[in-house]
Amino acid sequence: MRGFDFGANWQAFSADHVDERRLAIAAQSLRQLLQREDLGGASVLDVGCGSGIFAVAAYGIGAGRVVGIDINPRSIAASVQNLARLAPHAPITFQQCSALDSAAMAGLGQFDLVYAWGSLHHTGAMWAAIRNTASLVAPGGTMVLAIYNRHITSPIWRGIKWLYNRVPAIAQRLMAIIFAGIIYLAKLAVTRRNPLEKERGMDFWYDVIDWIGGYPYEYATPSEIERFVAGLGLQLRRVVPAQVPTGCNELVFGRPTR
Ligand SMILES: C[S@@+](CC[C@H](N)C(=O)[O-])C[C@H]1O[C@@H](n2cnc3c(N)ncnc32)[C@H](O)[C@@H]1O
Repeated sequence: MRGFDFGANWQAFSADHVDERRLAIAAQSLRQLLQREDLGGASVLDVGCGSGIFAVAAYGIGAGRVVGIDINPRSIAASVQNLARLAPHAPITFQQCSALDSAAMAGLGQFDLVYAWGSLHHTGAMWAAIRNTASLVAPGGTMVLAIYNRHITSPIWRGIKWLYNRVPAIAQRLMAIIFAGIIYLAKLAVTRRNPLEKERGMDFWYDVIDWIGGYPYEYATPSEIERFVAGLGLQLRRVVPAQVPTGCNELVFGRPTR
């Protein structure tokens, strides 16, 4: 079975929604998560870059060299287009590469900031992807992981996502509409905030499609991730817990300087 076509969703999102305003929200979310106003020329790798908006945002807040990788050629195409529109002269490159291809990953070199937001749990081999990603963090560098939280309902969601990728397009549309309603109400009840707010510069509708279609799908608790990453030589610096029980926990790690 083919997995979900994230790239198609990113292309549709980019066509209608990627603009300076969303770029500014994405940049602000990076500043908040990293607790830094400026990246001070840091080299940045965005693993599973999707629309490429965070790679462009990183440049906007002071990154030097930026590389975005994604396994899906349509994600790369969306990223290249967004770069051309938002920061055509920025030193950012996008290339098709899998986080599971350890040789290709090693060829990218090391980076001061490695950012893998919401991507490694969709690779089909999350722990191998985390290992490859962590290996690219330079001494003194930072790694951001956002990984779906483990919850009692996680296996049910896995089944829903599996189903979404097996049914015809018309049934997918129907599922998206039904789940948009359910997710809207559940998010409102849990967070008491308007679910249509543009979190991280994203969009509610495209996020719903990404959520119900996003397969392969894995999940872990923050402590499971922390234990695994500690074995790779990085220390946990900060956790931002998921806003909803099956959302993404954000973890910020640092690699000690030698
Ligand atoms: C939910 S999107 C997240 C996009 C972006 N990081 C963001 O925060 O908006 C997940 C992305 O991971 C990519 N992806 C899935 N498996 C991958 C792999 N093995 N290697 C690299 N990227 C992968 C998908 O193509 C998709 O663009």
